[in-house]
Amino acid sequence: MTCATRLVEIFGSQAEVARAFGLDRAVVNNWVKSGYVPARWATEVERVTQGGIQAVEVLDEASVKKPVKVKSRPDDVLFGSPLSGKEAMDHFAPAKRISSFHPPQRTLMGPGPTEIHPRVLTTMSQPAIGYLDPVFLEMMEDLKGLLRYVYQTKHPLTFPISGPGSVGMEYCFVNLVKPGDKVIVCRNGVFGGRMIENVERAGGKAVVVEDEWGAPVDPQKLEDALKKNREARLVAFVHGETSTGVRSDAKTLVKIAHEHDALAIVDAVTTLGGSPVRTDEWEIDAIYSASQKCLSCTPGLSPVSFSEGVVDYVRSRKDKIHSWFMDMNLLLGYWGAGIRTYHHTAPTNSLFGLHEALLLLREEGMENAWARHQRHHNALKAGLEAMGLEFLVKEQYQLPQMNAVRCPEGVNEAEVRKTLLNEFSIEIGAGLGPLAGKIWRIGIMGYSCRPDNVMLCLSALGSVLSDMGMPVHVGDAEAAAHGAYASMHAKAAQQKQKSRAAA
Ligand SMILES: Cc1ncc(COP(=O)(O)O)c(C=O)c1O
Repeated sequence: MTCATRLVEIFGSQAEVARAFGLDRAVVNNWVKSGYVPARWATEVERVTQGGIQAVEVLDEASVKKPVKVKSRPDDVLFGSPLSGKEAMDHFAPAKRISSFHPPQRTLMGPGPTEIHPRVLTTMSQPAIGYLDPVFLEMMEDLKGLLRYVYQTKHPLTFPISGPGSVGMEYCFVNLVKPGDKVIVCRNGVFGGRMIENVERAGGKAVVVEDEWGAPVDPQKLEDALKKNREARLVAFVHGETSTGVRSDAKTLVKIAHEHDALAIVDAVTTLGGSPVRTDEWEIDAIYSASQKCLSCTPGLSPVSFSEGVVDYVRSRKDKIHSWFMDMNLLLGYWGAGIRTYHHTAPTNSLFGLHEALLLLREEGMENAWARHQRHHNALKAGLEAMGLEFLVKEQYQLPQMNAVRCPEGVNEAEVRKTLLNEFSIEIGAGLGPLAGKIWRIGIMGYSCRPDNVMLCLSALGSVLSDMGMPVHVGDAEAAAHGAYASMHAKAAQQKQKSRAAA
């Protein structure tokens, strides 16, 4: 006898079974006809019959009549069958000992990234919102306004591209260089070299104006190249070469480009926020930077600005721009002035952070931020020179935020950096390309540009060099830096007095 007919016998009729289980009579009729009670009713059957029919009897009967089909794979097929076989996913799983990642507290004094202001970190940890949320859209307008301030421009098309400085660089080249175009690229370090790569990958032909690593771009050489290549309509150069710590005269170089009817692309990755960048006054056509240097935000955003002339030029291109992601026309749909539509998923929390980082600069004032970088550079330089270290770049071309100093003869350059990191938790940068092993790059950018960092770096470097047998008298560097601060304070106080007297 099946469990279903036993139920009918116990309760007297199918109608009574249905009533006892709170079911329609047709369901019970179906149990009787099919010869089994479905497995899911097993415990209920045992309860309602007060053990007259055991759950296990229902299950046994049901599994014979209607075996449960489990979609399983053989043990050697891992995906989709995590429960089959013995810990089948273990082949791919890292050790269970892995715990959350907590980076150490470092003093970042390399070529970037820099330390991030606590206000920026806090802002970035706010809850995520959608990139088309009306509140976010409003924030984007503020962000564009703040960027215009930092760039000193009124260009409407000023916004942060999602991606590091290299993406900003590529955005400029891919939009402005047409296949076959001749482009004059000034190279005096690593990043000029990257510009050449970009021109060639965009289908253009690069005419290279070479200058020594550590020297600024020579305006005369640019002028000569433009005279020789009259069809060139584009000039590109790096304002502050991070690989050497040299600053070129952006205003003069742009002026020369314009005198020859060429547009200028300027790399301001290291300079923006740390030394004067006057986009409108210098009539820069296209400019890009990065979030992780003197803006002191998280890496991964690249503020860019195109003049209206450049926007018109890109719009008038008949050919298709060779990058979907960086096509200015498409990006305008999200960052332009009209109704915003989806282009890509914007990195919302990083953008919150950039907004706060720019707000900090707005509160400080650009002139003050530039002066701060210069002031701490002067103190750092006094200290480094007191230790007998020499700068790679001549004084008048030195970037305040990026200090390249020569590693003294007989000193193991990499060992010094390693000891600074391991013993003092200070990061400084190494030399690149032909300068590898020959220089250190000490950055004082953005939030890292503070007197405590300057003093810590000098005293740590002094003690490491002294331990390595260099004739460095520990304490001399700090004294020289303090002296430099004191004389700058005295000068500033005198100036204040003079202007008060004149008023
Ligand atoms: C002058 C210059 N240009 C471009 C870049 C590339 O920026 P990112 O590393 O953010 O891609 C850097 C990076 O250090 C740089 O210093």
